[in-house]
Amino acid sequence: MAESIGTSNKETSGLKNFGSKFVLPVLLMVLGWKLAVIPFSSSSGPSIVEAGRYSREFASFRRIDTHAHFVPPFYFDTLKSMNLNAGGREVPRWNVSDHLQLMNRLKIETSILSVSTPGARLPGFDVLQARKLARELNEYAHMLTVTYPGRFQFFATLTLPDLEGSIDEAIYALDTLKAAGVVLLANSEGEYLGHKKFDPLMEVLNSRETTVFIHPNTVPGAATEGVPQFVIDFLLDTTRAAASLVLNNVTGRYPNLHWILAHSGGFMPFAGYRMGGALNVVTKESTESLLKELRTFYADTALSSSPSALPSTIAFLTYDHMTFGSDFPFAPNFVIEQETAQLDDFPLSLDKRHLINYENADRLFSKPLSHWRNVWSSPNAAHSS
Ligand SMILES: *[C@@H]1O[C@H](CO)[C@@H](O)[C@H](O)[C@H]1NC(C)=O
Ligand SMILES: *[C@@H]1O[C@H](CO)[C@@H](O)[C@H](O)[C@H]1NC(C)=O
Repeated sequence: MAESIGTSNKETSGLKNFGSKFVLPVLLMVLGWKLAVIPFSSSSGPSIVEAGRYSREFASFRRIDTHAHFVPPFYFDTLKSMNLNAGGREVPRWNVSDHLQLMNRLKIETSILSVSTPGARLPGFDVLQARKLARELNEYAHMLTVTYPGRFQFFATLTLPDLEGSIDEAIYALDTLKAAGVVLLANSEGEYLGHKKFDPLMEVLNSRETTVFIHPNTVPGAATEGVPQFVIDFLLDTTRAAASLVLNNVTGRYPNLHWILAHSGGFMPFAGYRMGGALNVVTKESTESLLKELRTFYADTALSSSPSALPSTIAFLTYDHMTFGSDFPFAPNFVIEQETAQLDDFPLSLDKRHLINYENADRLFSKPLSHWRNVWSSPNAAHSS
């Protein structure tokens, strides 16, 4: 390790210091990990020192990205071979180098990785094939968290509407792989989150105080002719899931769950008052209590930090329920940079900016993040983990 760390005077002490924090996890890997399944060779990826350089550079400004995707080569190949895309968006190529480069440019300290739609329940897959793919994705993501401690965390992939498999995978991923949370699609084969049949999974997640990232899927039914689903239907899908969760009182019945809605919650913040005022026709609850439930959601800024989207999200959900999102690599780099510039240009106090960019996510993920921060700083923590 030491030889690969820079030799120039001032740089050396900082890097050495930082590099040493990675020696233990790396040793652990060498001793305990199945090296054969390491999904990329160390020579092609960036060095650990390179990945860790942010520690000094981001001291005064940093972000946690809660909407960032990974597309391992085996997943890319599987989707390609089945001619699948993500709601009309071609599945992009992804690798760690590209991802870390973007993160370093935008001062993203940690990315919480998830797979995008279509997840692991691919069309034509039986239950066992889906479970196997979910497991492979989760093991791969876990490997990234170990190889690049602190830079990557992940939302575990489950296999809804397969309830039993989802519960087993959630327990394994959260308890054993130390996933930061789980990602669920707004609807799974037409069944929306909030459906009573998913309650047993909610119970398991609630008991672990899980943060659930809700990612849009294609909306059941026909799309508008010529308009790919990711353009607009994705927003409806997320908004529907939020409505369904509140309507079925999942937010009330499982208060230890935290929900992050993708893309500013679709258009939920914009339509929040209308939804709160209209849902009570069905639930007979007061509009106030419905609004309160709708405001328990968090929303990320991915592709939604425009001058018209941000005010709506801020007005409805407030600064302390927003997280930074990039949607890498499904959103092209230039779009991510534009969107991030819009967020950075939006008039906000430093405190509020920091809440959105970092602090809210840091609070939501304090447990999984502190696990790795302990690995950096304490040999005992590393050995007992
Ligand atoms: C990562 O992907 C990019 C294309 O997006 C490619 O140019 C680059 O060579 C890849 N890097 C590695 C290490 O595979
Ligand atoms: C939602 O669930 C909570 C907790 O069980 C309960 O107190 C509340 O009355 C429920 N709300 C409705 C409208 O059923």
